[in-house]
Amino acid sequence: MKKILDLIAIEIAAAFKECGYDENYAKVTLSNRPDLCEYQCNGALPAAKEYKKAPIMIANEIVAKLEGSSMFSETAAVMPGFINIKLNTDFLADYISGMGSEEFLGCEKTENPKTIIIDYGGPNVAKPLHVGHLRSAIIGESIKRIGRFLGHNMIGDVHLGDWGLQMGLIITELKKRQPDLVYFDDSFEGEYPEEAPFTISELEEIYPAASGRSKEDPEFKEEAMQATFLLQNGTRGYMALWNHILNVSVNDLKKNYENLDVSFELWKKESDAQAYIPEMVAYMKEGGYAHISEGALVVDVKEETDTREIPPCMILKSDGASLYNTTDLATIVERMKLFNPDEIIYVVDKRQELYFEQVFRCARKTKIIRDDTKLKFLGFGTMNGKDGKPFKTRQGGVMRLENLISDINEEMYKKINENRTVSDEEARATAKIVGLSAVKYGDLSNQASKDYVFDVDRFTSFEGDTGPYILYTIVRIKSILAKYAEQNGGQALAEDKTVMPAASESEKSLMLELTKFNSMMESSFEDIAPHKVCAFIYSLANAFNKFYHETKIISEEDKNQQKSWINLLQLTKEVLEVCIDVLGFKAPDRM
Ligand code: ARG
Repeated sequence: MKKILDLIAIEIAAAFKECGYDENYAKVTLSNRPDLCEYQCNGALPAAKEYKKAPIMIANEIVAKLEGSSMFSETAAVMPGFINIKLNTDFLADYISGMGSEEFLGCEKTENPKTIIIDYGGPNVAKPLHVGHLRSAIIGESIKRIGRFLGHNMIGDVHLGDWGLQMGLIITELKKRQPDLVYFDDSFEGEYPEEAPFTISELEEIYPAASGRSKEDPEFKEEAMQATFLLQNGTRGYMALWNHILNVSVNDLKKNYENLDVSFELWKKESDAQAYIPEMVAYMKEGGYAHISEGALVVDVKEETDTREIPPCMILKSDGASLYNTTDLATIVERMKLFNPDEIIYVVDKRQELYFEQVFRCARKTKIIRDDTKLKFLGFGTMNGKDGKPFKTRQGGVMRLENLISDINEEMYKKINENRTVSDEEARATAKIVGLSAVKYGDLSNQASKDYVFDVDRFTSFEGDTGPYILYTIVRIKSILAKYAEQNGGQALAEDKTVMPAASESEKSLMLELTKFNSMMESSFEDIAPHKVCAFIYSLANAFNKFYHETKIISEEDKNQQKSWINLLQLTKEVLEVCIDVLGFKAPDRM
């Protein structure tokens, strides 16, 4: 469906034209004085300059022209030349009825679907997931779902960190602990065991131990670097161990992501990109893009207009070793080859912004991407505790994702129990569903680039701008719909989605909120901004609750009126459900 603002603008533009003014002045926006009107057009002010007339005169002419338009119930010219607009309730009811009868609730699928790879999650093998990884997972998943809802081909890639020193560290630590393992026997020629020589909890203990040790013991670090080198050069026993580490780790990661309702189309790894490096390096040299500087191979990426120092992008160190950015560039080569994407979006901690600027420029300059391929960086801020410092456990340690989730669920369970009418089992299950909404909404309702305070108490509240409040609203609607169905002998909802003109201010406000759905969805995608979805559903939920408190739906005797309200509720519920789905959570049936 056409966006409501566009429909209004077309009507106003016609009036400008008929009055002899350039129709480009007919820009319409939501009102910034909702107490006075719903929409406004300020075009008479700039038009006044061109036509050398008082703005109020032009505004008056436009308003006179709009007299009799069936779209508006009120248009008024006010000083110095604003045009205040209110929609006609019949027109609004038609629009809302139209939304209800459309599969995508008035949203249009895009006419030119893009292939977009979204690089998010970014966990590192064998290192436990911590809250930093949570943001990437939550934000990336939401962007992916928003794009998909609008019809784009969204491909999520977890881009697993499996190629760094951490692998050598783990292998070296294992060797110290269990030197007799067959993987360390150079003369071994048989098949290696299928079973890994460690569990995930052992692995999670081994990595921090090894990392700690390497900081104190330079010899150990040297050995770990050597092991990394041997692994990267294909030493058989090390490769077999690495495979075990990978499998154990990936299984655990998948479970964790599943609990978050986050999933990836691709489980690509940094190691997968390595095969593309030699050819890429040769190409960059031959093309004259890369040159040797102090023994290292680099690509200059500074530009004349730079206001800050952008260092060259290093492709190979002087000892020939590749780096984090070599892997990222090779990954771009691989992605172009396998998927030829129109866009790649990276959802990574904003502290890596400069790094990505280098990588992007290097990719563009060396033409490993198409001229029209977009590389976008969505940097997110830090999640802090109430003390304003990066989020920690109560004991002061690094907060693990699992613990954070279980803390939230526990708090949610307590709150659900306060007015509990359900079995303990159901309360637990509901706490899990609602808990996820608390975490995700708490994160997504902030602009991604900003730091935010993780406040368990606030996030789990049923009141205010929170996930549980939104779910509570949906559950409330579900319960009214169920009562209505019961009242009508279990009848399913009508095919006819017609809604009657609003009978009250609060009903009209609810309808006006609903009309924003399609444009909101598009702009949250264009701006890569899930917080816009949150802001929209918060206003929508507020508008609904106000209407609900003022309207007796179930006891309404006029059956036509009642059915119209039920349709309005049904649409509100569907819009809210689509929105929470793109945010990455669901509503329970009761709570
Ligand atoms: N594994 C990295 C980290 O934990 C994040 C990876 C981000 N994505 C990328 N293509 N570099 O910091």
